[in-house]
Amino acid sequence: MVSKPKKPFRVFEAGAGKFPIDLIKKAARSERLGKKREFIGVDYDLFSYNLEAALKQAKVGKSPKNLRTSAGCAIRVLEKLPKESQNLVFAGLVVHQIFLNKSSPARGVMEAKRFLSAAKRALAPNGRLVLIQHLKDRAFFEQLAKEGGFRVYSRELTEAEAKKSESPFLNQIATSKGREEVVKETIRRAANQAQKAQEIQDLAQERNVKSPYDLHKPILFILRK
Ligand SMILES: C[S@@+](CC[C@H](N)C(=O)[O-])C[C@H]1O[C@@H](n2cnc3c(N)ncnc32)[C@H](O)[C@@H]1O
Repeated sequence: MVSKPKKPFRVFEAGAGKFPIDLIKKAARSERLGKKREFIGVDYDLFSYNLEAALKQAKVGKSPKNLRTSAGCAIRVLEKLPKESQNLVFAGLVVHQIFLNKSSPARGVMEAKRFLSAAKRALAPNGRLVLIQHLKDRAFFEQLAKEGGFRVYSRELTEAEAKKSESPFLNQIATSKGREEVVKETIRRAANQAQKAQEIQDLAQERNVKSPYDLHKPILFILRK
């Protein structure tokens, strides 16, 4: 009897960033070790020249054959993938942008739900949707994911785990000093600084965190169908 060839383990990264170094390193390592894995990375800002620069930074000679990248909307690409084709869908510090960048909050929530349902459709039965988000949005995401039909596990990422990543955003919020900078920058950029500072203070109280800077602690979410 001829056995069927083993299916590759497929990974889709939404909002992989301008310079998807983690993704490149993972794909190159899999290729080197002869593992049957395929990677896709999509970001609005991921153009071919970013990929070249990222390959250099990752010290990977040429683009691994098991990696496809494109510039554009990750939700649209995800929606076009074959049903149940992906083993892992990952989005690191992306979903808050999906719902915040939109013209109205209701529209933003709709898009975040659209992302979750596209991921659910594309995931294999035992697949995982893994998200990293800020502590301030933890309850909101858990609720959204449950409403989307996922089972949710979440925990804080440790400083060591967050620092290990090649993501400059995740590296920044890994430490309390970095999180402090994020909050200060948000206040600095606000038209009305005093009002923004008060909003952040109120949010910290509402979310029951010790310091406003902790609002940005990174949380790992693992979602299963
Ligand atoms: C804070 S950055 C995080 C980037 C990367 N994941 C990291 O951790 O370094 C958020 C990224 O999400 C991307 N993004 C947001 N919504 C997106 C969408 N619908 N499709 C593709 N990329 C998206 C942005 O272009 C941006 O690069």
